[in-house]
Amino acid sequence: MPEGLDDSQIGRLVIERQLVTPDEVRTAVEQQRRLAGAGQGVRPLSDILVDLGFLTRTQLDRLQGSNDDSGGRPAQQIPGYQLQRKVGAGAMAVVYRAKQLSLDRTVAVKVLPKRLSRNAEFVARFYREGRAAAQLNHNNIVQAIDVGEANGFHYFVMEFVEGCTVYDELAAGKVYSEAEAIDIITQIARALLHAHERGFIHRDVKPKNIMLTRERVAKLADMGLAREASDVQAAMAEAGRAYGTPYYISPEQIRGEVHIDHRADLYSLGATFYHMVTGRVPFEGPTPSAVMHKHLKEPLVPPDHLNTSLSSGCGAMIEMLMAKNRDDRYPSARELLEDLERLARGQAPKYARHSVGEDVFAALSRGQVVTGGNGQGPRAPAAAGAAPPVFSTALTIVLGIVAGVSILLNIVQAATR
Ligand SMILES: Nc1ncnc2c1ncn2[C@@H]1O[C@H](COP(=O)(O)OP(=O)(O)OP(=O)(O)O)[C@@H](O)[C@H]1O
Ligand SMILES: [Mg+2]
Repeated sequence: MPEGLDDSQIGRLVIERQLVTPDEVRTAVEQQRRLAGAGQGVRPLSDILVDLGFLTRTQLDRLQGSNDDSGGRPAQQIPGYQLQRKVGAGAMAVVYRAKQLSLDRTVAVKVLPKRLSRNAEFVARFYREGRAAAQLNHNNIVQAIDVGEANGFHYFVMEFVEGCTVYDELAAGKVYSEAEAIDIITQIARALLHAHERGFIHRDVKPKNIMLTRERVAKLADMGLAREASDVQAAMAEAGRAYGTPYYISPEQIRGEVHIDHRADLYSLGATFYHMVTGRVPFEGPTPSAVMHKHLKEPLVPPDHLNTSLSSGCGAMIEMLMAKNRDDRYPSARELLEDLERLARGQAPKYARHSVGEDVFAALSRGQVVTGGNGQGPRAPAAAGAAPPVFSTALTIVLGIVAGVSILLNIVQAATR
């Protein structure tokens, strides 16, 4: 078993990386219980997964590689910090609760795997972005405190947040009420506005990076933490590698566009909002590439179709955040916050509207062909291949106007004869 990973962590990792299905993990757990019941002792879940043929040794070693060298002993030796316990492990690092000795305060220390030290470009970016992030100060951003290197391990020190992540709650089966989701999304939108105005783009907004304190203060984590690879490289990594499935990534990051701006974060926040209120990720698929393809091409199933108790304003806002073309999203977190505040007061949003008539006339007055339904605009049809409703409504209106005008002309002609 990878050192430092217990059975539940192994179970979570193999499912997240789509190496093993949840059913296979259940089968392995049952087998583990049977063996223990038969007096054979409790064998590690990883061994049972391998014995049953659900996981190969190589895959297990790879899991070990992505976690092992950042955990355990080496991290105990960071000067100035006394590591107390491991609080979590993600795809690229291990996080510890620690005491910062100089100030006698509790902090979180994220230790990166040694292999990243070999990438000089990454290391330079890690320090640059980490130092810059330490200048940010906002109640809804996990405060960056320090970056450094000890024994070949790079580490990132940050504010310690006592609580859980939105991911933990979703994984436990929670579907958020509209009001609770609005509260959390509003707090993260404030964090993003603060960061964006200072030139920061997060690039990895997702439920795992939203921490919640016991008082339900939401804090955006990993701001200023350099990403290991370019977004597209990370996204393209196949299942089983060191990256999660790209459920929240923006289309432009998938396309590997060079100029990613703050609106990529708005898309990811929209995808997170979608998951929170529907209990489902916006796009699912058997492989990361299948999910990414859907982000690029497939119209979104409107969230209010999945959760009919959602207000239509909330549905429209999520769809606007998740518009495939970033020009169709909120221009900035400021306008998003205005709409969130209106929604919280029970008013209709100001920017996210899907009044069909207005959309059509606005488009017609710009001289555009009204196609609707390609997932670019705020409202897309639920199923691919369905007749684009905006187009057919536009056609009806235009034909109606033409018919009306010609009747009027006939009446005028008849009257003047
Ligand atoms: N500042 C913090 N205070 C307390 N716990 C934290 C802090 N930052 C992270 N954690 C915990 O450590 C876990 C691992 O965090 P990490 O950022 O390494 O990975 P992740 O965001 O969960 O996933 P991934 O690596 O797939 O992006 C988190 O899920 C969280 O439970
Ligand atoms: Mg994280």
